[in-house]
Amino acid sequence: MYNITYYHKLIINKEITIAQNERKSIHGQWSSKVLFIFAATGSAVGLGNIWKFPWMAAENGGGAFVIVYLVSVALIALPIMIAEILIGRRGKQNPVNSLRYLSKEASQVKVYEVDHDLNRTKQTKYQHHNQEDYTNWELIGWMGVISGIIILSFYSVIAGWTISYIFKSFSGLFNQVTIDGATSLFKKFTSDAERQLAWHTIFMFMTCYIVSKGVRGGLEKAIKFLIPGLFMILLILTGYVTTLSGFTEGLRYLFLPDLNKITASVVWSAMGMAFFSLSIGMGALMIYGSYLSNKFSIFEVTSIVAFADTFVAVLAGIIIFPIVFTYHLDPTTAGPGLIFQTLPIAFGSMPGGETFGTLFFILLFFAAITSAISLIEPAVTLLIENFRHTRAEASLKIGFVTWLVGIGTIFSFNYWQDVTILGMNFFNLLDALTSKVLLPLGGFSMAIFVGYLVKRRTSVAELKMSQSMYTIWRVLIRYIAPVAVMVIFTNGFM
Ligand code: PHE
Repeated sequence: MYNITYYHKLIINKEITIAQNERKSIHGQWSSKVLFIFAATGSAVGLGNIWKFPWMAAENGGGAFVIVYLVSVALIALPIMIAEILIGRRGKQNPVNSLRYLSKEASQVKVYEVDHDLNRTKQTKYQHHNQEDYTNWELIGWMGVISGIIILSFYSVIAGWTISYIFKSFSGLFNQVTIDGATSLFKKFTSDAERQLAWHTIFMFMTCYIVSKGVRGGLEKAIKFLIPGLFMILLILTGYVTTLSGFTEGLRYLFLPDLNKITASVVWSAMGMAFFSLSIGMGALMIYGSYLSNKFSIFEVTSIVAFADTFVAVLAGIIIFPIVFTYHLDPTTAGPGLIFQTLPIAFGSMPGGETFGTLFFILLFFAAITSAISLIEPAVTLLIENFRHTRAEASLKIGFVTWLVGIGTIFSFNYWQDVTILGMNFFNLLDALTSKVLLPLGGFSMAIFVGYLVKRRTSVAELKMSQSMYTIWRVLIRYIAPVAVMVIFTNGFM
């Protein structure tokens, strides 16, 4: 006989909330809210903002891309980001286990019994609907772990370019360099597979070293000075580009959308870019959320991170495009080499350029490594928590696999330049597979999971938003975001 009174429901909900608040992460926590914001910003702000965003915008019609990108961030990426951090913080383990925990929790039904002697109901136990119900959702976690490894494999190669450019800048190679000079410098570098392999190896090694030290030991230290430093250099560069003759043309290209250019493929790329840039859809923020104390508001920290990330990307565009137009570079053909061919010119002709250039590439390197850490962390914690590895072993194994796959990306710029699958070289293929397919799919599944499966009272308790904000978020996560992802995905695919 089941009979629930409102009063009993109240007591039981309260007990659940207390129990949840007392659950601690099994793998440590951030020491403060600011550090979480720094870490999540460190994950979000990276090569995506400075290297990929300008190049993607250039390839997809400038302003048309930017406007779709901004709309995607607000309506799709931000609500999913909140959902992803929610899963992590409540689950408090690696993505696979967190998803398992939440789906178990969601499938619990309370069983009540009427105590006839005392004439009242009492809760006897929790029961699961069906043991099989919750195992499938773990797949989102597995997919994320794999996406992270694939992304990091090429990310590390580009980060290697960045390290090499620190030295190029420092040794004065950019002084008074012309557009042809910068382009041939870049071409010469990317045709040299061994050199890139060396930098890729060094970058992977550093990433694994930091990850092997764990959250408190490694992550927090690296990010404390990165964010302020990066902002400062970007502002200096912005000041410089205002003096260029192509400044207004550059801004116009970036901000005045030619609506005819908004095609299904542009929208698909822009949405993928929003996922990539905000680090969502693969569990990076889920794992960072699992280190976040229950005291902090997910909505507040998420908004700050999303704003910072968008700000840096747009600033990068404001810097790159005036240089492109001043020096008559063709933005549509430069591809992934865009910033490596434009920025040296700026550094070569501005006062103090050698110092700023060196500093810039150092900061870009740090931005890259703080993102790299978050790309590998889900896989590493999975090995630690589910497969009895030590942190060092796990970092080493995952690092090695990633390093190996990365070699394919290096070869895409030289030996395998002409080898294409589906019209793409190896690097473009991995990039498209992750940004355009895996991340949106991961984000979509998280939206469905949190929007429909996770109990309303759970998300209310975790998010602690005002009633109206919660309603807006809930509409976005249940209807707008998943429908938009599916529509964009299918249209793009056609
Ligand atoms: N957001 C990072 C960048 O913009 C890349 C990244 C993607 C990191 C996905 C983690 C997860 O550089």
